[in-house]
Amino acid sequence: MTTDQLADVKFRLSEVLPQIAAHLSQRSERGQVAQYIPPLARIDPGKFGMAIVLNDNSVHAIGDAQEAFSIQSISKVFALTLALGKLGDGLWRRVGREPSGDAFNSIVLLEHEKGIPRNPFINAGAIVTSDVLLASHEPRETIGEILRFVQFLAEDSDISIDPFVAQAETATGFGNFALANLLKANGNLQNLPEQVLGVYHHQCSIAMTCRQLAQAGAFLVSEGRNPLNGFQIVAPERARRINALMMTCGHYNGSGDFAYRVGVPAKSGVGGGVLAIVPRIASIAVWSPGLNQHGNSLLGTEALEMLCKEMRWSVF
Ligand code: DON
Repeated sequence: MTTDQLADVKFRLSEVLPQIAAHLSQRSERGQVAQYIPPLARIDPGKFGMAIVLNDNSVHAIGDAQEAFSIQSISKVFALTLALGKLGDGLWRRVGREPSGDAFNSIVLLEHEKGIPRNPFINAGAIVTSDVLLASHEPRETIGEILRFVQFLAEDSDISIDPFVAQAETATGFGNFALANLLKANGNLQNLPEQVLGVYHHQCSIAMTCRQLAQAGAFLVSEGRNPLNGFQIVAPERARRINALMMTCGHYNGSGDFAYRVGVPAKSGVGGGVLAIVPRIASIAVWSPGLNQHGNSLLGTEALEMLCKEMRWSVF
């Protein structure tokens, strides 16, 4: 963006962001907070935050943008980035790149497709990605590697894992154990299911603020280069491909509706967060804990829809 374009974007954001916050604060229907992980079920559904990082590194935030929340499945974007760094295109021998049209935790396709998950963002695919990262390490080393990567991307060493969420996920993650066992039975896990899920459940339990999350995602805006420190995190082509997967698979069986309404690559989590990328322009993190029927943030999606419409941001 030229300096004039950037100034125009900043001016419009200063008008649009308060309008979005005011509009959504009046909504009584806010979706349902995730019930199956007890610490998430206790989160106040009235929370709402949004942060936008532009490619000059300026941050534009509203609401509870400085409050940490559980990033959950948004962590799958960072784990995928690391796994592609390790295996390159070899990853695609173990995980597909097609939307599943099923719920994030569905087991149905996995049996039909002989243990090859449809994509790296459904739980089965993310469990394979965790297995790739685990390789022959101890789970705590791999958990540390993922956490340090996210801290490095956001340039913020305060980012941490919520141990209560991690413990609750392990205690209630029977569906994930079923997926991991089926993957193992089909020869698509190198490590033991409990070790792989130790990694997966901890990566999901990373807690971040909207501001930290938008900063961590910024490398996907600028062709793989982190605007905060200038490091080339991934090659431009890989950044485009990660964005393509976010666009087609980032909202599970709600991905089509999200693309139709919002029109930019994005990844959701059951903590109510969404990371959205407007290539060459902005990295956006939004948080509203109430979810829609697909497990994606109800008001978070609405906020992104309003923002992208008002700013005329779309990849289409
Ligand atoms: O595997 C699970 O159930 C969670 N830890 C993550 C799920 C999630 O965030 C799905 N996204 N909407």
